[in-house]
Amino acid sequence: MDPDLQSLFDAARTARTRAYAPYSRFAVGAALRDADGRVHAGCNVENAAYPVGTCAEAGAIAAMIAEGGRAIREMLVIGPGPGLVTPCGACRQRIREFAAPETMIHVADGDGVRARFTLGALLPNSFGPENLTDA
Ligand code: THU
Repeated sequence: MDPDLQSLFDAARTARTRAYAPYSRFAVGAALRDADGRVHAGCNVENAAYPVGTCAEAGAIAAMIAEGGRAIREMLVIGPGPGLVTPCGACRQRIREFAAPETMIHVADGDGVRARFTLGALLPNSFGPENLTDA
């Protein structure tokens, strides 16, 4: 695996081991590289009040923002099961705030990367910050 991608995979896999998912038992990790090359990771954090739980992608974005990052260059999500663990709809929009249509999102399981999508493919014709500044 490309070393940059490997570092994202390793960070997401480690974050996944720390997921708090007692209700779904579906542990997810995410990692992203910011414009300065720094890697930020997150995991899902569930809650007894189910809708309050947060996704791994949201955690990775929060970690980036807290460290002063403002742009996602690349992202990787790792989760279990036979299906691809692609970002949920709400997280696609969260990623959209800080990424470009060309930004790659890699989807992995424990064995490695299984698929990759651009953000534009996952969230076409999206609404973002430019819509507000151009108003
Ligand atoms: N989940 C994520 O953290 N990221 C995804 O991309 C898909 C779903 C979490 C939310 C919830 O804690 C669990 O996985 C089951 O939906």
